[in-house]
Amino acid sequence: MSLQTLVRKAAKIIGDSNYVVVFTGAGISAEAGIPTFRGAQGLWTKYRPEELATPKAFKKNPKKVWEWYVWRLEIILRSKPTLAHRIIAELERRGIVKVIITQNVDELHQDAGSRRVIELHGSIRRARCTKCSYKTKLMEIPREIPPHCPKCGALLRPDVVWFGEEVPRVAFEESMREASICDSMIIIGTSGVVFPAAYIPIIAKSKGAILIEINPSRSALTSYVDIHIGTEASKALKAIYLELKSLGIINDRD
Ligand code: APR
Repeated sequence: MSLQTLVRKAAKIIGDSNYVVVFTGAGISAEAGIPTFRGAQGLWTKYRPEELATPKAFKKNPKKVWEWYVWRLEIILRSKPTLAHRIIAELERRGIVKVIITQNVDELHQDAGSRRVIELHGSIRRARCTKCSYKTKLMEIPREIPPHCPKCGALLRPDVVWFGEEVPRVAFEESMREASICDSMIIIGTSGVVFPAAYIPIIAKSKGAILIEINPSRSALTSYVDIHIGTEASKALKAIYLELKSLGIINDRD
């Protein structure tokens, strides 16, 4: 099926839906210059996650783990939302997209203007104390590596979910609720191999939602989806947005 046909089908499904949820992974930020985790240039092809993104790694060598996060934070603090992030925010503003559930830790959805964003894996742009309740935004690179809590002096850690840690309960339960009530879900830029996040689209499917996937490659979720648009996020979303306009679902007077 041609890209145009897939886009037309996807726009029709979105236009006929009352409750669209967007589910995103690292691929939507790839066009912002932020490395994904898997695939040819992925972070996990260069480093072993166990050495950098686990509580054990942090306990063993907090300086090394922080140096890796600082390297990623420098890239993220220089990055801007992509056209894809901005189109999703616009679709939310127009009441078409109801919520964004993201595995990403870069806050580019929020930077693009999205208001309802559920962060399943936290944010690299926040740090929290390993001992007390102190938490802070990271607007710039910490001067001290590893940084310490200004309140109690203990080590700070990135406010992200590491392998072997629980996803924040509130975020996961809210995501399950959204997946259960949506009538269509747009899955963008995820390999679908990390659980429990990857359950969210499967829950949506089990409750009758139509799944649209945007990803240049096949993912572990592709066999579940109703439409797979095999192209980059911004290109696909721009085409869908234009199709929604030609269907009269979006008009510039709004
Ligand atoms: N547009 C859309 N998708 C893209 C693009 C693009 N321009 N570029 C790459 N992709 C796709 C890749 O084909 C791949 O399927 O994005 C996906 C990225 O997959 P991963 O790197 O595995 O990232 P993600 O699925 O978000 O990983 C999930 O794993 O390491 C943990 O906590 C980390 O949240 C992350 C989780």
